[in-house]
Amino acid sequence: MKRRLVLLGPPGSGKGTQGELLSADLGIPTVSTGALFRDQMARGTALGVEAQTYIAQGHLVPDRVTNAMVQSRLGSADAVQGFILDGYPRNVPQVGVLEEILATQGLAIEGAVSLELPEDLIVGRLLKRASIEGRADDTEPVIRERLAVYHRETEPIIDVYRSRGLLLPVDGLGTVSEVADRIRRVLEIVA
Ligand code: AP5
Repeated sequence: MKRRLVLLGPPGSGKGTQGELLSADLGIPTVSTGALFRDQMARGTALGVEAQTYIAQGHLVPDRVTNAMVQSRLGSADAVQGFILDGYPRNVPQVGVLEEILATQGLAIEGAVSLELPEDLIVGRLLKRASIEGRADDTEPVIRERLAVYHRETEPIIDVYRSRGLLLPVDGLGTVSEVADRIRRVLEIVA
């Protein structure tokens, strides 16, 4: 069973939602860089204050901040048996850093689940979430910028994982449970 996983996909494609379900299935933690940043921002730490400037504009937080945070989180005891990375890596240099972090322990990513969803649905989902949760980066201009950053910085990762034979594309359309079942099938958790 694959237990060191990356969840890829544009903003609002369901990475966080599906990561939690997969975490429960596999008994391993989800490591969401977005959630880690939001926690730091809520606590007003120096890292949170720095991250907030970038997140509010829909830009990526600088790699030196993000990579150090991920390295520290993956070193925690609960990640020893595996983890699901949600929102990291998010650019090609982060793919290399992740490889180096894992290689020091003789480990490697075993699968990259890529959620695919049309852009008009993405914007609708995130605007709906804005009306419920009020996440600061869920305004339409910032969502558009996050999508532009996704296409420019993050999408090239898909080809990197494809070329390594690790890419597992999943249709992100449908209900949460329909998508979860597709993920379980590509990961061979169910037949
Ligand atoms: P992050 O928190 O990772 O934001 P994101 O990638 O934009 O993803 P979202 O959380 O918006 O969406 P999701 O794909 O997780 O979907 P979700 O399940 O929530 O990052 C935020 C920011 O932090 C970045 O912009 C950047 O600034 C910074 N950052 C993070 N990682 C970084 C990194 N590695 N490097 C540098 N900077 C980084 O679902 C979305 C909504 O849709 C929810 O309301 C949900 O309930 C709903 N939904 C989910 N599935 C379905 C479904 N099947 N049908 C209907 N609704 C659904």
